[in-house]
Amino acid sequence: MIMSHSVRVFPTREALAQNFANILFKDLDRLEPDHYYTIALSGGSTPEYIFRHISENYADKTGWDKLLVFWGDERCVAPDDAESNYRMAHDSLLQNVPIPDANVFRIRGEVDPAAEVLQYSGLVTDMIPLFNGTPQFDVMLLGLGDDGHIASIFPDRPDLFTTSRLFDVAIQPGSGQKRITATGRLINNSSRIFYIVTGKKKAKIVSEIIEKKTESEAYPASKIAPVSGQVVWMLDSEAAALLTTL
Ligand code: 6PG
Repeated sequence: MIMSHSVRVFPTREALAQNFANILFKDLDRLEPDHYYTIALSGGSTPEYIFRHISENYADKTGWDKLLVFWGDERCVAPDDAESNYRMAHDSLLQNVPIPDANVFRIRGEVDPAAEVLQYSGLVTDMIPLFNGTPQFDVMLLGLGDDGHIASIFPDRPDLFTTSRLFDVAIQPGSGQKRITATGRLINNSSRIFYIVTGKKKAKIVSEIIEKKTESEAYPASKIAPVSGQVVWMLDSEAAALLTTL
């Protein structure tokens, strides 16, 4: 299957959230019996609005029990910390919808990062069907940092796209905060990658990466090219404002 890129622009975050939820539930409706749908969530602030919209408007849908929830990265903090990606998803989505706790596999940011990298890599390898010998998520959600980082792969770590590891410890350059992140091997093995990017602050980096402007090569996001899958950019009109090739 050839890799495909699509860019979808929505007038509002609400319209983006609705469209993403419809894609998700259409897939859940089509799921074979005894099959699960595996998704790795992104962190940061952008998904919170999307998750909250979904939990306020789709909680009564069927299929939540077919979803297995993982994370693409986590901050090395306790699960009740304001910085925790798990906490954000729990408060804005997971506690508000009928998804069994047994279907939620958080990265434990509160334990020794190197030990958690091994533990979580093992869990993902056991739980997620393999494609080409590597776990393949049905969906990987990604946000986009102003510096072109994705998950917690920052521009100073190109090695995270060549390593055979599935997860690794990273450091957020500005704050020095420790992170646990999926690597390029795992992210690029996903069936579908959804970028969810909103707001005018992101317009410049979005246009640099989507339109492959010269300075974009160094950005981790420019190395996202799933081996057999799709990349779908879900943008609001503000984040898409500088795109010239639509
Ligand atoms: C994280 C994320 C990270 C995030 C970007 C964008 O843990 O911070 O996974 O990759 O998606 O930093 O963050 P905002 O949505 O807050 O702009």
